[in-house]
Amino acid sequence: MLLRILFLTIAGDLFDCVDMYKQPAFDHPLLKNHTLQLKPSSLPKGMKLAKSKPVSFYGFNDTCPLGTVLVQRAHKQDLNDSQLLRNQFRAQVIADDRSTEGGHYALLQTLRYQYYGAYAKMATYKLPDLHSGQSSSNAIILFGDAPTDGLNAIAVGWQVSTIIYDTSYPRFFTFWTDSKTGNWWVTYNDQLPLGYFPKELLPNLDPNANFVQMGGEVISSSKVPSPPMGSGHPSNEGRNKAAYFIQVQFVDQSNNLFVLDPSSFTPRADIKNYYSVADAHFEDHKDKYVFAYGGAGGFK
Ligand SMILES: *[C@@H]1O[C@H](CO)[C@@H](O)[C@H](O)[C@H]1NC(C)=O
Ligand SMILES: *[C@@H]1O[C@H](CO)[C@@H](O)[C@H](O)[C@H]1NC(C)=O
Ligand SMILES: *[C@@H]1O[C@H](CO)[C@@H](O)[C@H](O)[C@H]1NC(C)=O
Repeated sequence: MLLRILFLTIAGDLFDCVDMYKQPAFDHPLLKNHTLQLKPSSLPKGMKLAKSKPVSFYGFNDTCPLGTVLVQRAHKQDLNDSQLLRNQFRAQVIADDRSTEGGHYALLQTLRYQYYGAYAKMATYKLPDLHSGQSSSNAIILFGDAPTDGLNAIAVGWQVSTIIYDTSYPRFFTFWTDSKTGNWWVTYNDQLPLGYFPKELLPNLDPNANFVQMGGEVISSSKVPSPPMGSGHPSNEGRNKAAYFIQVQFVDQSNNLFVLDPSSFTPRADIKNYYSVADAHFEDHKDKYVFAYGGAGGFK
């Protein structure tokens, strides 16, 4: 199974600004003939992109020169480069097998349908110290069926680290397939296109995803208590105490955003006493679909 994740974290990592046409992604054999798409050719209806890049993006003030992209340094000790940026912001793309040991989740899964995108605003919280090797994240994950070899999945979300903010901060993601190119675009806060997942790498997400998951996931070794998820409060404490997603929406074939009703979602949590997902419902017109998730952790 193939999983590609764009996780944004605040972590003091190191970056290089690399010529966009020479970025390491193009070393992938399936991207040999890929033409770099500079901006989306279509957007979900009602969405508008900002005219220019914001000056600051989550404390990330320095941006790469025009024509270059940020590439995270693989090794932190590798410090010797003039084009190096040190910042609080981290964008990470992981190509990995998802059958992680010690992974736990509390999320909502949609019924099967043709999803051409997904949209949500998620609150992200500072958490107490995590042990090394642990992570706690929230994400939107799109899955495409494969006839024989399982699933393709792509995800965007936030991996929460200890050094983020003192208060919750809601962040948007929109995720949709570009009707001309078939690439899966990701924008942040409705305005900033972060980039795309090339369709060549995601044959089973062509032309659409088959189901979507949204919620929290932690990873922890069995030797230490598992970390908190969301805000560290269980979902039954409700929105604002527990972490939450609001404005949960999906994109149809005609690029329209739509809302699913609560019966279209299945709550899934592997260790319910530790991490839960609940309270999924419509609210007012503005927040549309809302659900809470999370837990204190402590599973061993
Ligand atoms: C790239 O294009 C060439 C020529 O059309 C073709 O033979 C090759 O299979 C393509 N490679 C990929 C990875 O699509
Ligand atoms: C980014 O710029 C703002 C405003 O100038 C400043 O307050 C903030 O500390 C800067 N962030 C970093 C990480 O340098
Ligand atoms: C660091 O860069 C300088 C100047 O380019 C070079 O002389 C030096 O060998 C580099 N050091 C390492 C450890 O790569």
